[in-house]
Amino acid sequence: QTSKHREPCHSLSLSGSGLSRGERTENYSPIFFPQSDLLKTSTMKFVRFIMKNATLANVPKHIEHFAKFSPSPLSMKQFLDFGSTNACEATSFVFLRQELPVRLSNIMKEINLLPDRLLTTPSVQMVQSWYVQSLMEILAFLDKTPDSHSVLDEFVDTLVNIRNRHNEVVPTMAQGVIEYKSVFGQDPVTNQNIQYFLDRFYMSRISIRMLINQHTLVFDGATNPLHPNTIGSIDPHCDVTEVVRDAYQSAKLVCDQYYLSSPDLMLQEMNVNNRKQPISIVYVPSHLYHMLFELFKNAMRATIENHDASNRLPPIQVMVAIGGEDLSIKVSDRGGGVPFRKIENLFSYMYSTAPTPERAVSCSLQAGFGYGLPISRLYAQYFQGDLQLYSMEGYGTDAVIHMKALSTDSVERLPVYNKTALRNYKVSQEADDWCVPSREPLDLTIYRVAK
Ligand SMILES: Nc1ncnc2c1ncn2[C@@H]1O[C@H](COP(=O)(O)OP(=O)(O)O)[C@@H](O)[C@H]1O
Ligand SMILES: *[C@@H]1O[C@H](CO)[C@@H](O)[C@H](O)[C@H]1NC(C)=O
Ligand SMILES: [Mg+2]
Repeated sequence: QTSKHREPCHSLSLSGSGLSRGERTENYSPIFFPQSDLLKTSTMKFVRFIMKNATLANVPKHIEHFAKFSPSPLSMKQFLDFGSTNACEATSFVFLRQELPVRLSNIMKEINLLPDRLLTTPSVQMVQSWYVQSLMEILAFLDKTPDSHSVLDEFVDTLVNIRNRHNEVVPTMAQGVIEYKSVFGQDPVTNQNIQYFLDRFYMSRISIRMLINQHTLVFDGATNPLHPNTIGSIDPHCDVTEVVRDAYQSAKLVCDQYYLSSPDLMLQEMNVNNRKQPISIVYVPSHLYHMLFELFKNAMRATIENHDASNRLPPIQVMVAIGGEDLSIKVSDRGGGVPFRKIENLFSYMYSTAPTPERAVSCSLQAGFGYGLPISRLYAQYFQGDLQLYSMEGYGTDAVIHMKALSTDSVERLPVYNKTALRNYKVSQEADDWCVPSREPLDLTIYRVAK
């Protein structure tokens, strides 16, 4: 049985799922409740110990169960509805206590498919333990009532805790890749596996954080003083050029600090729908900012390193265009470009990871692990967009972000664990089916036909 079935979260029945912790407490309590207080506390500890291990032992079972569900991608509209004025915290709670375990379990199945030598690195083990811990914390809410304010408050606290626990997942996984590389080197097959996994893993992480952010921001009862019109992290009227200017200014600040100069910004926009309106879109401004900040840092560094400081730096040109379907942002620099052969590697987690210290010292415009481009591309793809680089070596680079102009097209793009995914981890080095150009030019004289 490979097909995934979806159940509406509200009708999720817990009976017989074996997930109720309450039952287990009752089973143990009659045996372990003697009189003395000292004994009582130590017994309590013991009960907790037993329970913790009972739950731990059940983790694979839970993962198995929840990984059978397909994650449910949300549209921008659904995100907005969850956060609108008549938003119901209980509904969001009931949805998340099912959907978060589903997303966590789907990706945890894939972590287990990593090459053993990577899976067993201390870094990856650590990340895995965070996922187990967070999964268990959410499962504890499955038998709690959505009608209680204290349950809902406790849930928000738990989500905030989980978000903090996972703050360092990206650098920790990068560390795992470094540990792997330092022992086993790098090869195309492992590179392909790691690329496939990390793209899906980080995408899953982006989506889980999005869900957590929406719930915690919408239901903490306060409006964002800086952006009163945002719904959670979504701005229904995200002013794109404002975010472009903002990201440029931040990158300029970093650039000025290190190089004492920075290229100017030339910004153009093209709104075919309405030439007088500023271009706006339903989007997560922080995601857009993240992508643009990375692109500006790259463009500035390339520009400066390719031009004499004494001469005027060519500006970075940005074009924002919106049509019926797409909103695209092109960031063009004259920083000398990248050879075509290397473009793909700029997005590779394996080929671009280098330990932070060296890189950080060499240039602060570097993101750290060289993950600026691949992670930015994931943010673009998360709502069905993309990020591409078009470079002309010897001249410069165009980096283009494509986004969906219509909020109805902006739907989460989520990995799902199933047989198709499983097959993709089983790829092996196939023999090539294209000729290898020989070094010696063919001697055509041997084919000469005798006259
Ligand atoms: N606009 C650009 N012009 C020239 N090279 C670029 C440009 N953008 C990216 N690169 C190259 O791609 C590499 C990877 O970029 P990125 O993923 O942002 O990581 P980092 O900036 O930390 O190295 C850069 O180190 C740089 O060599
Ligand atoms: C895996 O899931 C995707 C998306 O739901 C689906 O298109 C694909 O056919 C599934 N693969 C298998 C083998 O079930
Ligand atoms: Mg960068």
